[in-house]
Amino acid sequence: MKLFGTMATNETNQLEVGGCNVFQLAEKFDTPLYVVDVQHVKDNCNLFSQAFKKPGIDTEVIYASKAFLNMAMCRLIQDAGLSLDVVSGGELFTAIKAGFPADRIYMHGNNKTTEELLMALDYGIKRIVVDNEHELELLSYLCDQLGKSIDILLRVNPGIEAHTHEYIQTSKNDSKFGISIYHETICDLIHKIEADPNVHLQGFHCHIGSQIFEDSSFFSAVSVMLGFVERVQKECDFTTAELNLGGGFGVYYSGGDDPFDLNECLQQMLNIFQEEIKTRGLTMPKLLIEPGRAIIANAGTTLYRVGGIKRTYGGKNFIFVDGGMTDNPRTALYDSKYEAMISSKSPLNEKENFTIAGKCCESGDILIKEIPLPTPQVDDLLTISCTGAYNYSMSSNYNRNRRPAVVFVEEGVAKLAVKRETFDDLIRNDI
Ligand code: LLP
Repeated sequence: MKLFGTMATNETNQLEVGGCNVFQLAEKFDTPLYVVDVQHVKDNCNLFSQAFKKPGIDTEVIYASKAFLNMAMCRLIQDAGLSLDVVSGGELFTAIKAGFPADRIYMHGNNKTTEELLMALDYGIKRIVVDNEHELELLSYLCDQLGKSIDILLRVNPGIEAHTHEYIQTSKNDSKFGISIYHETICDLIHKIEADPNVHLQGFHCHIGSQIFEDSSFFSAVSVMLGFVERVQKECDFTTAELNLGGGFGVYYSGGDDPFDLNECLQQMLNIFQEEIKTRGLTMPKLLIEPGRAIIANAGTTLYRVGGIKRTYGGKNFIFVDGGMTDNPRTALYDSKYEAMISSKSPLNEKENFTIAGKCCESGDILIKEIPLPTPQVDDLLTISCTGAYNYSMSSNYNRNRRPAVVFVEEGVAKLAVKRETFDDLIRNDI
């Protein structure tokens, strides 16, 4: 298992994260347990802030909170100086309750409800990223009723097909998100917004997909979007003040994943941006990005306790753990690949191939399809790395399993960020 951030193994091959030994964490907080390496999150935020700036360009880095959000994470992102993107009333509520400044919050979503738009207006967030004409009309109507106005970005689709899993591609021409930049009515829409006193169009937003491994996709996004900025300047007489290119920067999960150098990619995006602004003779907009996964994925680790080991008649050998698709649905959903290690109090055996399965009543409840590991003892700890993004945020109560706790670790101190759900939590809303 590749180690990230502050992860290290001690002399008895037991994993430590943030200076905390996994056995001590498991004893204190129980398992399954999401562990967040705080220093690593800070370093990732810092990398983005430092690499995504260049003299002469106004830039902003926004954390895409759908990847992983709770109040402790909001405070971490706030302290790191990043802005926040939310896609639901729930994410917005969490941010506001954590004290995250509303004037650093951007709101997305292809089907925002009246309730969500009202929350956004009430809290006075910085931008609503409008997805479609219906939303525009609803937002304008609500502003009118409240006597308010709001700055917006228009989500557009540049039609770039980034090579990633089909479910997380967002920019194909038939995507559900945004309005195609090639749509014939785009100028009419821009003029309609400009004529509306309730909404002020600042510019455009696009997001080409997630877990993208080719930096050229991001460079294309810069060029294609600047082509669009030029077109709307010439054809619709609209000057773009802000251009948000979304997130999608790929990360390492397991052998074979080969992410590009983030620092270089971000600098290169800015170089291309600056050059093309010049050659196209455009007024320079502010440039924004929205990374989620690249900030949190490698900073998260999940600890499980090993239950039984089953050697099937069919030849497949299972290690059963006390979590599963409820705390990490990504293997079942996207066939994602993960790495793992065993931390044991006894000496480890030779490695053999195992399938790591969870405890749900579902054959597809697999965390890792095949991985060579030493045969563990019952109650050994199995650790899966790179579980920070889209695990906790996509977790469920399937089979009425309780969601695990989240603990933030730093310099030998472990702080509970989210309590483990209780059985009472499970029936809280039952009548
Ligand atoms: N901005 C927008 C508008 C997005 O839709 C997304 C992700 C992001 C930013 C952040 O993308 P990131 O930097 O995290 O790749 N559940 C899937 C990922 C879905 C991503 C959805 N949108 C998974 O587990 O891989």
